Amino acid sequence: MTINRQIILSEYPKGMPQAGHLPMREGEMPSPKDGQVLIKTIYLSLDPYMRGRMSPAKSYAASVELGDVMQGATVGQVVESRLDGYEAGDYVLGFGGWQEYSVQGKEMLRKLDAKQAPISTAVGVLGMPGFTAYAGLLEIGQPKEGETVVVSAASGAVGQVVGQIAKLKGCRVVGVAGAPDKCQHVVDVYGFDACVNYKDDDFEAQLKAACPDGIDIYFENVGGKVFDAVMKLVNDFARIPLCGRIAHYNDTEAPQGPDQLPAFLTKLLVKRILIKGFIQFDYAHLMKDFVRDMSSWMQAGKIQYQEDIVQGLENTVDAFQGLLEGRNRGKLLVQVSEDTSR
Ligand SMILES: NC(=O)c1ccc[n+]([C@@H]2O[C@H](COP(=O)([O-])OP(=O)(O)OC[C@H]3O[C@@H](n4cnc5c(N)ncnc54)[C@H](OP(=O)(O)O)[C@@H]3O)[C@@H](O)[C@H]2O)c1
Repeated sequence: MTINRQIILSEYPKGMPQAGHLPMREGEMPSPKDGQVLIKTIYLSLDPYMRGRMSPAKSYAASVELGDVMQGATVGQVVESRLDGYEAGDYVLGFGGWQEYSVQGKEMLRKLDAKQAPISTAVGVLGMPGFTAYAGLLEIGQPKEGETVVVSAASGAVGQVVGQIAKLKGCRVVGVAGAPDKCQHVVDVYGFDACVNYKDDDFEAQLKAACPDGIDIYFENVGGKVFDAVMKLVNDFARIPLCGRIAHYNDTEAPQGPDQLPAFLTKLLVKRILIKGFIQFDYAHLMKDFVRDMSSWMQAGKIQYQEDIVQGLENTVDAFQGLLEGRNRGKLLVQVSEDTSR
């Protein structure tokens, strides 16, 4: 055990990231210093925000430096510990990046109890995506019984949780997704009232029919034509938690065509709409409530989830492309080594 396979960022992609931007290299096995642990990666979490880290553009978090291992949250197992409170065999949530082994200090580490929940859920329904759904919907969306909630990327890691929490709050929930099987799953398994495929020619008409009383909350994950269609149906005093704009993450130039901004701002004013961009880490004060509520909903069988687990570190870049193209079915993970907790 002397080699640590790693995926590094060698070039900032323009458009869709390709394997050439993220080559695999054989690094040396790291060894922990005092206050650190050596962790074997079991699961890598693949998340849309990573596209932003592959860019030199300034954002709410720093870009990955060229030549560095691509960053990301991981679930793994401690191999060797020089950190009090951790021992070999412990399962941990951390920030190990796209590699087989990492050395980490206590800052980003959290121990996981495999008896409480499958360890993979620490980067899914019980982790950052689930928390994003909870904080954005409840704090900004402020759902009330009987209201209509629309969520885009409805079958994905965040969207599936948004819709289910909105159902628990007594709302009518309409999903928007990009494939018939995704729409079916969202209705059959998560209990959404309807789900519309934005790739259908009559998408706008279908969305209108699914929202006979207009839209009170739009949980925005994608942008593009879905956003434009929703804006035609929003009610007075609608709330729009602006969570993501995945349709635009690979854009290489500004959109062409007439300037939509004046009409958009007039609509916000006339309809007194609240639209608020948010990043989940600014809502850390809600984390305790999230853990309490989500754990009890899950124990009661009120929240379902779907994971899409791709096997092998060597398939990470292809899987990430799939996330940006809608190939994933649920929360996307890469399994790098055996999950011994199962
Ligand atoms: N603000 C925050 O703190 C925060 C935190 C986590 C995630 N997010 C954002 O939340 C959104 C969802 O993230 P996730 O982790 O749950 O990913 P996800 O939904 O599991 O996967 C991404 C999905 O986006 C959809 N998509 C891709 N390209 C699209 C396009 N051009 N138009 C419409 N839909 C498209 C695809 O589903 P379809 O087949 O339905 O197209 C794809 O499966 C992303 O925008 C992400 O950046 C924000």
